[in-house]
Amino acid sequence: MLDVIFLTMFAMVVGIAISVYLVRVKRKFVLHRNLQIGLASFLLLVIIGFEVDIRFFTNWKDLAAESPYFDSGAVYRSLGIHLCFAIPCFFVWVYVIWRAIKKFPPNLQPSEHSRGHILWGRIAAILMLLTAVTGCTFYWIAFVAS
Ligand code: HEM
Repeated sequence: MLDVIFLTMFAMVVGIAISVYLVRVKRKFVLHRNLQIGLASFLLLVIIGFEVDIRFFTNWKDLAAESPYFDSGAVYRSLGIHLCFAIPCFFVWVYVIWRAIKKFPPNLQPSEHSRGHILWGRIAAILMLLTAVTGCTFYWIAFVAS
């Protein structure tokens, strides 16, 4: 599951870039909505699978103990940095999607909600990018470096 979540983070960044391009340049609002909700649902499923795996099946600390960065504490520090982005990212995504579904009109045309959505949508996208970058750094420090 560690490998799956690593690949999923890549897919998320590419998917968000496509989705923002679709809404910004092509003005494809419905496609943007579907892609964002699809990406968020997919990520949620992967995170649930990951949590089940890490709690009941895989002892990640045993795997990470072989890393040259384990004894210095760098593995835990990089995990801490990653969580500083990942946890707020979760709440901001729920907030952006929830508000967008509630506030945009059914035909999804730009509305009074646009300003707030563009601001928080950008924050959500940047947070996801930083979550991916710090997550991949943790993955490399803990499981790849030799
Ligand atoms: C976390 C999920 C989402 C993110 C990160 C996100 C991100 C964005 C961003 C960055 C923009 C502005 C692009 C620009 O710079 O012009 C945008 C526009 C838009 N989004 Fe989202 N979005 C999300 C979910 C949704 C959902 C669920 C809906 C519909 C229910 C939606 C509907 C729209 C619409 C209609 C616009 C165009 C606003 C306008 O230009 O007036 N978005 N989104």
